Order: sequence, then structure tokens, then C-alpha cells
Amino acid sequence: MKDQFKKDVEQGLSNFPKSIPSKYFYDKVGDDLFVQIMNMPEYYPTRAEFEIFKDKHQEMISSMAIRPDTFFELIELGAGDGTKTKELLSALLDGGFDFEYLPIDISMSALASLDSDLEQEFPSLQVRKKHGDYFGVLETLKENHHPKVILFLGSNIGNLSDEQSASFIYQIGANLKAGDKLILGVDLIKSEKLVIPAYDDPHGITSAFNLNLLSRINNELGGDFDLSTFEHAPEYTSIEGIARSFLVSLVAQEIPIAGIGKSFKFEKGEKMQTEISRKYNDQILDKILCKTDFKIINKLTDSQGYFADYILNRF
Ligand code: AVJ
Repeated sequence: MKDQFKKDVEQGLSNFPKSIPSKYFYDKVGDDLFVQIMNMPEYYPTRAEFEIFKDKHQEMISSMAIRPDTFFELIELGAGDGTKTKELLSALLDGGFDFEYLPIDISMSALASLDSDLEQEFPSLQVRKKHGDYFGVLETLKENHHPKVILFLGSNIGNLSDEQSASFIYQIGANLKAGDKLILGVDLIKSEKLVIPAYDDPHGITSAFNLNLLSRINNELGGDFDLSTFEHAPEYTSIEGIARSFLVSLVAQEIPIAGIGKSFKFEKGEKMQTEISRKYNDQILDKILCKTDFKIINKLTDSQGYFADYILNRF
């Protein structure tokens, strides 16, 4: 784990342009900051997707095309606190569906708190928490022959390039059978006016989230970054539909990282990329899906058209 972090940082800082993989945002501090991001008024995706789950779960269930008397597995990749999923779980229980909920997460503590929370709220719900990486767990579930519905929400797919998304979705499909479903939550392409404030908030929370990468390098790899010499700088154009976050060095400097045994030079104004957050439309998703074994069978959006949950059928 730490070795991989060291390798990825060394490689990312040796490249031009420099970059650090966004997966390293999520340590304890980063998890807390991301919860704060989801609660900001500027960060529309969370509320938009919640609205879909709250108002359109019946249509979602119809699209899943599962008979109430057929047992199925509802599997969530990266379950978080389950706020949106609970809307669906509650409707499935009310509808008398026969299913088990399997949240998969790499965070043991996230799973444990979700589990006790669900136990409280839905005592009759069957939950089987799965600790590990998505594909490791999916592979073990492939053995049984129950129909499956996979949830991958929150536009988490947007951190991947389109090519990486295609292989990620293909890989999900490789662990499913024909007729199984994938419910994919994605942020939709919209104007700069709406997207930029979500990634450049006036409270400084997203800035702290981004700069936390440098704290992690300091704490875990013995780095010597002075956070006050870097600035959070997001960019987005609606033509391309990709939000990118950078950290810009405000001065020319050389930063030693003891754990790597090297120093890294930054020019004044040099930008290091820390995240891509892709936004989608039907065309972009079609292009990704044509390299997979999934076809779109429905698209549910919020009332403002900010976000979509696509129901995909594995063929
Ligand atoms: C969790 C990847 C969906 O890209 O919008 C929020 C992460 N980064 N603010 C996103 C994030 C900056 C978020 N995802």
C-alpha cells in the first residue's frame, strides 16, 4: 500500500506535466473533507443523484426487470454512507422483493458503520458486507448463479479516462451474466457557471481536499512540501466536459521527499494535475459502452437535468 503510494508519487512527480493519482485523496482527513464537499451547496451532484433515488426509484426498479419472487443480489461498488441507496433499499423492501444487499468497500470502518446503520433502519434487510477491491469481490460472487444488479454511483467513474472507464465497465461485465444490470451514476455536461463553483468553492474545502495530497506525502513519505506555496486551481470547459484539478507552485522551489530519497523541482507557476472529473452525455457514454457488453436501457435524471443514473443491461 505505502510502497505503491511511494512508487506512484515518484513516477508522477518525475513526469512532465507532473501529476498525482486522485485515489490518494482518501485518507481519514480526505474522507472527512469529501463529506464536507458533499454537504456544500455548490457541490450539486450529491443532491441531484439523491433526488433521482428519492423520486424515481419505482422506474429504476421496473428497469431492473426483476420479478418479486426471484432472489437477486444488489451489489454496490464503494458504498459510502448509503444515503441514496437507502431510498432504493426501502422501496425494494416495501415491494416485497427477495434480495440481499452487498456493499463492497476497501474501507473496513466505512462498511462497519454502514452495516450498523442499516441494521437500525431496516432490521429485515439482508446485508453481507464485502471488504476488498471491487474485482476481487465480484469474481467470488460470479460463482453463484443469482441475478445481479450492480450500483456504481456518485460519478466515481469520472475519475477515469474514457479508455480506462471502458475497460473498467468491461471488467464488471466479465463478472456478470446476460440480463444482469449495472446502474451507473454520472454527472452530466453543463455550463462552466455551474461546474466551476462545485470544484472551486468559496469555503476553501475543495482547496483543502486537494492540498491534503501534499500533507499525505509529508506525513507518509517524509516530504517537505510547504502547503502555503501551492494553490488549488481547477479548470473546466463545457466543450470538453472534463473538470481538472491542479496544484500550482507559487514559487520556484525544490522539494525533498526523504522516503523516496530524491528532490523534485517546481518552476514558478508549474501545474501538477491531481484529478480529472469527467462529465458525460449520451454520445460520450455510447462511445465508452461500445467497447463493453452493456447497452443503455433507461436514463433517469433529476428535475434540473444535472445528473443521470443510466440503467445498463449486460447482453
Ligand atoms: C467522488 C470522484 C465523484 O469528481 O466530483 C469532489 C471527487 N473532487 N470535489 C468528483 C471530488 C473534488 C468527486 N468524485
